[in-house]
Amino acid sequence: MAKTTNIFMKNQATESNSNFPQSLDKRSSFVWGVSTSAFQIEGASLEEGRGDSIWDVFCRQKDTIKDHSNGDVACDHYHRMQEDVNLIAALKIPSYRFSISWPRVQPLGEGTWNEKGFEFYSRLINSLIEKGISPHVTLYHWDLPQSLQDKGGWENRETVNHFVNYASEVARRFSHKVASITTHNEPWVVAILGHESGMFAPGVKSTKTAMQVAHHLLLSHGLALKTLRQNDVKIPLGIVLNQSPIYPATDSEADRKKTQLDDGLLIRWYMDPLIKGSYPQDILTYLGENAPDVLPGDMQAIQQPLDFLGINYYTRGIACATPPTESANTGKEITAMGWEVYPQGLTDLLVRLDKDYQLPPIYIMENGAAYDDQPSGDRIHDKERTQYIKRHIAAMQEAISLGVNVRGYFVWSLMDNFEWAEGYTKRFGIIFVDYKTQRRLPKDSALWYRDFITSNISKAQFIR
Ligand code: FCB
Repeated sequence: MAKTTNIFMKNQATESNSNFPQSLDKRSSFVWGVSTSAFQIEGASLEEGRGDSIWDVFCRQKDTIKDHSNGDVACDHYHRMQEDVNLIAALKIPSYRFSISWPRVQPLGEGTWNEKGFEFYSRLINSLIEKGISPHVTLYHWDLPQSLQDKGGWENRETVNHFVNYASEVARRFSHKVASITTHNEPWVVAILGHESGMFAPGVKSTKTAMQVAHHLLLSHGLALKTLRQNDVKIPLGIVLNQSPIYPATDSEADRKKTQLDDGLLIRWYMDPLIKGSYPQDILTYLGENAPDVLPGDMQAIQQPLDFLGINYYTRGIACATPPTESANTGKEITAMGWEVYPQGLTDLLVRLDKDYQLPPIYIMENGAAYDDQPSGDRIHDKERTQYIKRHIAAMQEAISLGVNVRGYFVWSLMDNFEWAEGYTKRFGIIFVDYKTQRRLPKDSALWYRDFITSNISKAQFIR
């Protein structure tokens, strides 16, 4: 797809003094936002007809979640939605990315729709619009209806059709109101952490299954885009990938080979089919019998034009042919997740993708960091998180100045929430959540982000 054909551009406003490229949202030159996902914040897991998702069931299994917690209450966002929208508005954040819980709107993943569930999202979208906040919807942020898992989940090709139906129904109801629709969040995580390492729901441990799942996720993305466009959906449609540039641990031949392999499994396995319509040959060879079954027409279906590509960036990867004896992160600046802070990786990643692929407009849909925040009175001085965000915005800006077409940036996350297998032990929010009282408290990083967004964006220069 040509870089300039972008339906976001229709609505561009002119803010000629900005260092960020002109584009997208109805009112601004560059989208600044904040992200969440349904399972991580909503709670109300048994209310108003919601069905079980694979994460509800995974949490009930022994020793799957670090603090033995679950998503039953989470941030109680289902009941506090208006308060949370008010907070986004008070922080003057113009865009909000959230996901729809498939089992809340279709408890079994097929058949009957749950009107109560749709009403919740309708109220959320209306409240956002009322406050002047653009809603960006993700259809699948990992919470497959358990009833589909019972029939084989994403390994079963039938799930692809169910997803396309679900996508069509959401688009039919909401596409005239929301700013964009993302099909999948991070298919690599769903496939690999969910089905190869088994660290995430549904906890399967099989490379063959994982690769089949990855293929079906991509296929469901492509078929959903095709169907939505046939149904005359006009808003930008895309997918969000988690990506990290991989660097060799040493200059050895073995480490360089491992880099190529890791890069293939994490980046090219998703980018190549989406943009070029084929899987990378070196990875197909490496997988051998574990390569997925691909039916005629699948690759063309996956390679639909993308209105945008979302990238989630947290850290880089280091490829080492022989596992290091000490932690690879020794001596490095790390977050509470143990992830290295490496802003340069974001620049390198964006520049590399731009070199290797014909990219649609890029949005950084998630970037942020977990730290052990301690409230001090009514403030949370999360200096490190603020620094993290500043430095990554600067790294993104550097990529833009090198010619990469980046149009937006979303912080992960609006508020502390259920961090998957880490439970509530990791805080990524720019708003602190006291889980005992559900009291929300904006951290210093939130106040910084507000001031940054509301300042003349050209002042972004100062953070370099
Ligand atoms: C990403 C997920 C998001 C959150 C962050 C920390 O992989 O998309 O839900 O857990 O990591």
